[in-house]
Amino acid sequence: MRKKFICGNWKMFAPAWEGEIPAFAENKIVAVAPPFTELSRMSERLKGTGIKLAAQNVYFKDNGAYTGEISAEMLKNLGVSYCIVGHSERRGYFGETDEDCLKKIEKLAEYGIAAILCVGESLETREAGDEYKFVGTQVEAIFENISPAAAENIVVAYEPIWAIGTGKTASAEQAQEMCAHIRATIAACKGSDYADGVLIQYGGSVKPSNAAELLGMEDIDGALVGGASLEPASFMDIVNY
Ligand code: 13P
Repeated sequence: MRKKFICGNWKMFAPAWEGEIPAFAENKIVAVAPPFTELSRMSERLKGTGIKLAAQNVYFKDNGAYTGEISAEMLKNLGVSYCIVGHSERRGYFGETDEDCLKKIEKLAEYGIAAILCVGESLETREAGDEYKFVGTQVEAIFENISPAAAENIVVAYEPIWAIGTGKTASAEQAQEMCAHIRATIAACKGSDYADGVLIQYGGSVKPSNAAELLGMEDIDGALVGGASLEPASFMDIVNY
């Protein structure tokens, strides 16, 4: 039985996250990914809540002259358990490639940090009817090449670009179909026993009002939440959908 995993992605926002943080069931995994500069404060804020700390990005080198970058070891030292890799905003604005994603996933695994690999198609790709091929290729680029150690600790997030920050959620059926396709693609790379255990999240305009329907689908094991995670009450309403 796969657990449900709900992760907030604050992107480049730094909300105070004021007020009570409600409890959640033990069979769920919950994490929040604030900007790098907020990791330290949030690790204090989250103490005793059971919510894990996630990062939004990492560099794939151990250390060195890489101005502006942050290593997996630095994240580990701050108590980070998960790290988002290949978000469409990073692929689109910062030129992150599948090869970069794989290197980051491998480096994170060396430090025991689980990667949340984001995949998803643009509106243009969907309208052209190429969404399954496009997302399948992104998934294969990682799962055909991943090391056994990294494969033990990876989550996939299906985030259709047209549903991010637009208020336009993929229908539960559209999200389910793509998540099932992702699982089948992983199975083709690494076998169905392995694929059956991989957590696959949906992301894109998830809010308290649509969480139950999305998270009730067979192959949707959680959510990657942007806007609705900036305030603990709405985020925890999603967690406790
Ligand atoms: P929104 O929930 O704001 O649409 O963002 C989704 C997302 O990109 C999470 O990584």
